[in-house]
Amino acid sequence: MSLQIDEQGKLKHFLSIDGLSQTILTDILNTAESFAIIPEQSIKKVPLLRGKTIVNLFFEASTRTRTTFELAAKRLSADVLNINIDASATAKGETLLDTLRTIEAMHADMFVVRHNQSGAAHFIARHVRPHVSVLNAGDGSHSHPTQAMLDMFTIRRHKPEFSRLRVAIIGDVLHSRVARSQIIALNMLGVHEIRIIAPKTLIPAEPHCLGVHVYHDLQTGLKDIDVVIMLRLQKERMQGAMLPSEGEYFQLYGLTEKSLAYAKDDAIIMHPGPINRGVEMTSAIADGPRSVILQQVSHGIAVRMAVMSMTMRSGANAPGDH
Ligand code: NCD
Repeated sequence: MSLQIDEQGKLKHFLSIDGLSQTILTDILNTAESFAIIPEQSIKKVPLLRGKTIVNLFFEASTRTRTTFELAAKRLSADVLNINIDASATAKGETLLDTLRTIEAMHADMFVVRHNQSGAAHFIARHVRPHVSVLNAGDGSHSHPTQAMLDMFTIRRHKPEFSRLRVAIIGDVLHSRVARSQIIALNMLGVHEIRIIAPKTLIPAEPHCLGVHVYHDLQTGLKDIDVVIMLRLQKERMQGAMLPSEGEYFQLYGLTEKSLAYAKDDAIIMHPGPINRGVEMTSAIADGPRSVILQQVSHGIAVRMAVMSMTMRSGANAPGDH
């Protein structure tokens, strides 16, 4: 039994894609599909998590991830608490465990955790009470599993057969928890080929162990590509000069009408956000007809509803276990 899966084989925590099975990933996508129609109805709520308390514990800034987690919880009828980290006791030297115990004493049923340290969500999951579930909303440069699953959901909506797809991930793969989770999910779902396209300084060590092909040139890397995933240059995580300049980076790796022509005609363009316009891609591409970037945001709500409802269904969360 792993930390994420309970004795019945159900999802208990959602911390990283590795350690899960293709069946669970597909289950998340199918469950999300049933939630994706809810926003189109006049009443946007379902009572699945009525009476549950979900705490968004964000130790690192976020806009779309936190708000879509919050909306997902509200659409499942849970009560949501957003902990403002700047003003919280951690700033006064309280340990992570003390913060955790304090919030647990408020009878929380689920923690959604974002932290700049890799492993923070796993640490919390090991220390919560048995009925509590922990969802990782991004830990350091390690993992961002709900982002990866909303990306898989978006890909599947446009290109349903994973086994036929060639996917290119372009940019700062080295610092990207999103890319790490996407690569594991894409491999698990059986895509034909994953390429990473970036300057040498932004490629992780031993990329071949990740199951990807490495390209340093956009033109050859984009050939026959169905899905283009752009990544933000994570300057806050870069130590020293890893790039000549943003201008030069854009010249070599920026997505423009001209460079996009190297990919397949019906290739879709994705980006987890926030975008640096004019660095990773032009505004014309970001807002153009092949961009599915805003769909990714909407799909984030359905996918997070799926993961929240699935972890709360786990045996350890059953009524009477509190
Ligand atoms: C990503 C993150 O925070 O890891 N953004 C997000 O969750 N929407 C990617 C990034 O910050 O570039």
